[in-house]
Amino acid sequence: MERKIIRARLLSFRREPLTPDDTDSFRYIEDGGLLIEDGVIRAFDDFDRLDATGATVTDHRPHLVMPGFIDTHLHFPQTQVIASWAAELLDWLNDYTFPEETRYSDPELCARMAKVFLDLLTAHGTTTAVAYASVHAPSAEALFAEALARNMRLITGKILMDRNAPDGLRDTAQSGYDDSKALIARWHGQGRLGYAITPRFAITSTPAQMEAAQTLAREHPDCHIQTHLSENHAEITLSCQLYPKAVDYTDIYASHDLLRENSLLGHAIHLSEREIGALAEASARPVFCPTSNLYLGSGLFNDAKLRKAGLVNAIASDVGGGTSYSMLQTLAEGYKILQLQGQRMHPYRAFHWITRGNAVALGLEDRIGTLDAGSEADLVVLNACATPAMALRMARARGLMDELFTLQVMGDDRAVVQTYVAGVACT
Ligand code: GUN
Ligand code: ZN
Repeated sequence: MERKIIRARLLSFRREPLTPDDTDSFRYIEDGGLLIEDGVIRAFDDFDRLDATGATVTDHRPHLVMPGFIDTHLHFPQTQVIASWAAELLDWLNDYTFPEETRYSDPELCARMAKVFLDLLTAHGTTTAVAYASVHAPSAEALFAEALARNMRLITGKILMDRNAPDGLRDTAQSGYDDSKALIARWHGQGRLGYAITPRFAITSTPAQMEAAQTLAREHPDCHIQTHLSENHAEITLSCQLYPKAVDYTDIYASHDLLRENSLLGHAIHLSEREIGALAEASARPVFCPTSNLYLGSGLFNDAKLRKAGLVNAIASDVGGGTSYSMLQTLAEGYKILQLQGQRMHPYRAFHWITRGNAVALGLEDRIGTLDAGSEADLVVLNACATPAMALRMARARGLMDELFTLQVMGDDRAVVQTYVAGVACT
């Protein structure tokens, strides 16, 4: 059995920090050690309290080691859509995104891009992702296969979309159901993989397909469900026109039993009180996508209002509507969106969010998101002095909170010194 020890400054959250003074919410060890065996953390302690017998020691001091970041919503076939100039969501989808996604019918392209995509994630410190594949089953196959080869935790699913999309990018209610079933049978629960039933959004699924998604969801209660909700005003209007019996956008999904604890609802911006209540009743998870919401001009996610209703919000990059793979940049833009609404995202809460917080939103906090013994050894090694500008700022830092805030505001992949997936250093 391989034993290794990572020595570094260590930071891991026990629970969500309530205020910037809530230092009991995390454990920070100045000279810490993680004992790792078979990809799992066995001990998280002061370095000199660990039994180092037979272990190789990697010393990352003075850098900071945290649990690897968790991205709860992004799109595998959109790596080459980022930075496409469009007015707003529906133009961006029709003019750039849908044409690009048609390319993912090619299994060879999918296999090549799966490597690129997962390399990009780990280069940015992200060790768990919840990704949309394209409508084509081979795109999900390729992503699962590549993640399995890396022993990486990944949740994905082929998109269900059978209307309002170009040729080559539509399935049917039946083929979407059959392909999803086959993918679930082959991949769900293998290694660290999970399947997400993925109706893209109401506009691109007929009622027949929404019913097929409902059947899939009923047959596979342990699969996640992911979709988009209430991102943009034109999208909301069209969705409600296409589902005239629904009382509002949220009801389209609710009436098909697609809202539950493991449902991830990307964006969730323009919600009525009724919709917020319906989401809270189902314990569904709104997903805040800051860089995307600013980039597409979609609107301001009201984190405090949703939390007050009892919802557990996730946070995500939403690449390629989102503009960065970096969960640090995601926090930076998220901070500004909340500032505009008089809401403050303090750095302890921010770093809890992209680690344990997102793990809680996914129902995976017993496996990822902390450095606790028993957690999978997904780690990110961070350097808050990574650029000259960051080093200058850090020269005036007054402690851990300033260091985290520097990373949160100025950090990106340059601040990621190393990423570990299941205890193995990514190259
Ligand atoms: N709504 C439906 N599909 C998409 C997508 O790919 N990106 C975003 N941002 N919103 C969507
Ligand atoms: Zn999205």
